[in-house]
Amino acid sequence: MSTENPTHLSPAMLRQAFGSFATGVTVVTALDARGNPVGLTANSFSAVSLEPPLLLWCISLTTPSFAAFRDCSHYAINVLSADQEDISNRFANPSADKFAGLEWTPGAGGAPVLAGCIANFECANTHGYPGGDHLIMVGQIAHCRVNLDAPLLFFASKYAALQP
Ligand SMILES: Cc1cc2nc3c(=O)[nH]c(=O)nc-3n(C[C@H](O)[C@H](O)[C@H](O)COP(=O)(O)O)c2cc1C
Repeated sequence: MSTENPTHLSPAMLRQAFGSFATGVTVVTALDARGNPVGLTANSFSAVSLEPPLLLWCISLTTPSFAAFRDCSHYAINVLSADQEDISNRFANPSADKFAGLEWTPGAGGAPVLAGCIANFECANTHGYPGGDHLIMVGQIAHCRVNLDAPLLFFASKYAALQP
């Protein structure tokens, strides 16, 4: 058992502890109020419910695209493959045109569905719950497609790949 003082929950220590939980990597996409595509890299994705079909992810209240995601009617969760690390990096930094040169098609509500992913979920933006410095976004899945291939993984602040 850890002897760490549990009251010492600094953001740096928590980031390290949360990072011990290996995840896949997604890019969440939507259209903003002007109809322009927006997107961000997120690993806070989780399955929630099969019937009804629900998922969740969390968005930082201070990220530039926050209002666009809070207010959109639909978003798409694009689960990245092992060879899409460049796309993860592109969507993990603020930029005027994250979609330049990317292949995508409009999904439910126009939300960009990225090509080459191992799964895409098109969701209605149904609920947002307060979660401290994040908003917990719960979406109802309207469509999904799966193309199971090697996933991009994230562990201890680094990308990783499944060992064969
Ligand atoms: C692997 C990884 C996972 C991330 N997960 C999240 C997340 O779940 N929620 C979030 O708000 N930001 C997350 N981020 C940070 C955002 O991708 C980053 O702040 C991005 O710049 C947000 O887009 P924006 O600046 O256009 O708003 C993650 C970054 C990385 C590299």
